[in-house]
Amino acid sequence: MFKSHMCGELRLAHVGQEVTLAGWVNLRRDFGGVIFIVLRDRAGLVQVVVSAETAPDARAVAADVRNEYVIQVRGMVRQRPADQVNVEWATGEVEVEAHEVQILNTAQTPPFYIYDDSPVDEALRLRYRYLDLRRRRMQRNIILRHRTVQFIREYLDQHGFLDIETPQLFKSTPEGARDYLVPSRVHPGKFYALPQSPQQLKQLLMVAGFERYYQIARCFRDEDLRGDRQPEFTQLDLEMSFVHRDDVLDLVEGLFTALVPAVTPEKRVLSPFPRLSHAEALARYGIDKPDLRFGMELVNLTDALAQSGFGVFSGAAQAGGQIKAIVAPGCADYARSEIDGLTEIVKRQGAKGLVTLAFRADGVKGPAVKFLSEGELADIAARTGAQTGDLVCIVAAEPAVVGAALSALRLTFRDRLALADPQLLAFGFVLDFPMFEWNAEEQRWDAAHHPFTMPRPNTYEAMIADPLAVLSDAYDLVCNGYELASGSIRVHDPKIQMDIFRVLGYPEDEARAKFGHMMEAFSYGAPPHGGMAPGIDRLVMLLAGENNIREVIAFPKTAQATDLMADTPAPVSARQLKELHIQLDL
Ligand code: AMO
Repeated sequence: MFKSHMCGELRLAHVGQEVTLAGWVNLRRDFGGVIFIVLRDRAGLVQVVVSAETAPDARAVAADVRNEYVIQVRGMVRQRPADQVNVEWATGEVEVEAHEVQILNTAQTPPFYIYDDSPVDEALRLRYRYLDLRRRRMQRNIILRHRTVQFIREYLDQHGFLDIETPQLFKSTPEGARDYLVPSRVHPGKFYALPQSPQQLKQLLMVAGFERYYQIARCFRDEDLRGDRQPEFTQLDLEMSFVHRDDVLDLVEGLFTALVPAVTPEKRVLSPFPRLSHAEALARYGIDKPDLRFGMELVNLTDALAQSGFGVFSGAAQAGGQIKAIVAPGCADYARSEIDGLTEIVKRQGAKGLVTLAFRADGVKGPAVKFLSEGELADIAARTGAQTGDLVCIVAAEPAVVGAALSALRLTFRDRLALADPQLLAFGFVLDFPMFEWNAEEQRWDAAHHPFTMPRPNTYEAMIADPLAVLSDAYDLVCNGYELASGSIRVHDPKIQMDIFRVLGYPEDEARAKFGHMMEAFSYGAPPHGGMAPGIDRLVMLLAGENNIREVIAFPKTAQATDLMADTPAPVSARQLKELHIQLDL
């Protein structure tokens, strides 16, 4: 046996016991007669004392060990003197007096410190990911990820879900990103696509009669990367038969409400999860993935200011736009440079400018005040509820720009004024999305979720005549400003499906070529069904309190979709290319 105990599990109860430990040297301090080794394994740290007096051979070996050597230690657990207790460690009341130390392996000097979590350049961390993963923060995150997935599996098993695997080598799926393609050697010129999600397959599992399916599924999307996106990522993919929307939402709400206290007892969840329509989310927060941990809702001033003598307001209103505001508490004394910074933020979202009104003790101040009447200023104060000391920020533009600009400002104030409790997970469902979006570039309709999404029951009739009027039975789960999950009730009626393809402009033969297997399957008795897919990476990121999903993925890719450790993507040999019937055109 290499070890009788884990380093991190030793407590006062073990005092007097002989133990065998094995792990990595976190730190070594040599005081001549005594060497202290902090030994580390997955469970944590423990102090080992090697004394020249009682264990001269062990001390001689200990003198040679360096950080990150792998060693085995035999010794006796003893209580530390009261003045040497380390309150920061779970094992801080004890230490191990070694009588034997054995070096199991040596180690080069690591390129960064492993024994503390001091900041290290991310490229270096990714290049030596296996060392980065030894650090406490990453061990904690990866273990949290395991516990999260383990909890989900248990919960879903208890709720009648079956874990069913689906292929990675499949056909292009309609999630809207670019596919990763895999050339076929045996079928020259033909390709598999790695699934962007198991969407079609899980629906086929419903046709197959499994009724409740889940999978911790790897998905692949070749899209522009951000902090919350990776080219390959993991979904908790689930699908249920004989359900309405609320059945799916209730299941997911129950799962997350139980999960959070089980894996992160320090976090709080608000129950029940609010359920907002897409239109309401846009009206109140300017965005369809609002951070619900704090208020600062958008106030609509369009009616009040449409006739204003101030051209910025009346002009926007006449062009069919909106005039909306948020109130930043206590920010009335912002300096010119700070206002310029806020203006930059709204300009990046497409707004031409930002109107600020500072409610000071000696009156309302701001460059636009001279263009506004007393009555208008009073109306703004009444509608926004602005108090002395507050800064009212107003954007006038087309609705999408107003929403984007004010929601960006709202998040800026959240961070500056510490408005959001970091220990709170504010989940919420966003419902009733539009069914179609107009793609101005390609002059056609796109499915806002995906083409297998069911229209809301009473909006379907208008589909062909007025696609914009159709709402879908799609829903998102948002949390703290992130889209955590999406899902929908699916179409199981071939006629509705054909109508959707018509709006999307797929000629029938093209629809059949792309999705014929689905249409055919649905003609053999498809049950009403629906599902959802929370992103595991985003979920664990939020649970871990990280703000990048790379921190909760063992081997993530960079923002350029590369792996710095294995140096990939990488060229392949001419022979491999030839076997795959591929010629490069670089
Ligand atoms: P959707 O495309 O919205 O829906 O994805 C669902 C959830 O997956 C996560 N996600 C990602 N996470 C990391 N990196 C990415 N590149 C990435 N893309 C998506 C997000 C997102 O909310 N088949 C449908 C679901 C369904 O209808 O059941 C789907 O994939 O957390």
